[in-house]
Amino acid sequence: MVIEPKIRGFICTTAHPNGCFKNVENQVNFIKNQEEFSTKKNVLVVGCSTGYGLASRICCAFSKTKAATLGVMFEKPATEKRTASAGFYNTAAFEQIAKSNNIWAKTINADAFLSQTIETAINTIKSTMGKVDLVIYSLAAPRRTMPDSTIVSSTLKTVNQPYTSKTLNLKTKKIEQVTVEPATKTEIENTIKVMGGENWLDWIKALKKANAISNNALTIAYSYVGPKLTFPIYKDGTIGLAKNDLFETAKTIEQNLNIKALISVNKALVTQASSAIPIVPLYLTILYKIMKAKGCHEGCIEQMHRLFAKKINFATNAIELDSKGRIRLDDLELNPEVQKEIEIAWQKINNENLNQFADLAGYSSDFEKMFGFGLESIDYSADVNQFVEI
Ligand code: NAI
Repeated sequence: MVIEPKIRGFICTTAHPNGCFKNVENQVNFIKNQEEFSTKKNVLVVGCSTGYGLASRICCAFSKTKAATLGVMFEKPATEKRTASAGFYNTAAFEQIAKSNNIWAKTINADAFLSQTIETAINTIKSTMGKVDLVIYSLAAPRRTMPDSTIVSSTLKTVNQPYTSKTLNLKTKKIEQVTVEPATKTEIENTIKVMGGENWLDWIKALKKANAISNNALTIAYSYVGPKLTFPIYKDGTIGLAKNDLFETAKTIEQNLNIKALISVNKALVTQASSAIPIVPLYLTILYKIMKAKGCHEGCIEQMHRLFAKKINFATNAIELDSKGRIRLDDLELNPEVQKEIEIAWQKINNENLNQFADLAGYSSDFEKMFGFGLESIDYSADVNQFVEI
């Protein structure tokens, strides 16, 4: 089929296999062109197919260590009428490139919230890798199937009070006012169940019980803090409460399971997860404009490279942490100079001067690229086979 982007607001319902391959290949080449760095040998990445999880997997696999990676994702394969999801194509590309470089990789496409999936992963680890020594938890999910089969959804809302602010309508590309209503108690509880630390703890507990994680292993989950501007919708909103729970879970994992557990606070970036948060896309377009102008803009792969090559020294076990014990990859985003410029731009920006203050083109291009569109050297008019094997 000839595959074109079908964008509906913050989602794109098609993905291009060749474009996704190129995207993954570009990230691999970025890592190959860096100075050598080491990671751990056997890595489990929960949420491995897009965004930060995919970039983490690429960093570990193409580091000097050539880590064996087991990935877990929840992605859709192609059908006669539909393309596969971008994460599916990314993973097919990752596995193909890894194998051609003699790097072991295997992926489980199943719901990470289900105990059967954890069991399958453990059986795979025990029969192939022995034990894992690094577990990356990079899940961003809209819903969770609970052990009793009920489904709970996460909500991106404020807590206690409504919040009115500017936002970017991703369909019309116009700025409009939005009021985000406060979540109910149940919505808050459910968001914590989906995006908090319970599932992370379940994974590490099960790995430990099955003797499938080494004693000197490290596990890292990703979080976000952001500037004051987005506090009502992020840090102090439902998602922020879930991230607090994730932070507390790191302590529980260390205390109860004796496995080193860390939170890495990452930079705000265009990913499928972040595009769905109200207000954040407008903030992102301004952030991109300012960070690009200052020459300090990073994408997922640059951020993850900084995590594995600079913030953590796997050879000496030295890890750069903030006063609360977290890794901070959002240091460049939260640089006071960057944030001061964002505040000024935020006050001034309107539909007439949008392009002066916001990198709309950069946002759209990154968004399309996530689905394999807008990459040079890909012939988008060509008929391609949407069926790709993993
Ligand atoms: P993403 O949407 O690109 O990736 C999510 C991953 O989770 C995909 O691999 C997907 O297949 C997997 N997944 C979703 N539901 C699943 C399920 N039920 N079972 C198995 N796998 C499932 O997300 P992104 O943005 O890379 O986020 C990853 C983590 O990083 C999240 O915790 C997010 O909060 C955090 N983060 C994201 C930032 C951003 O700006 N994008 C900033 C800082 C932190």
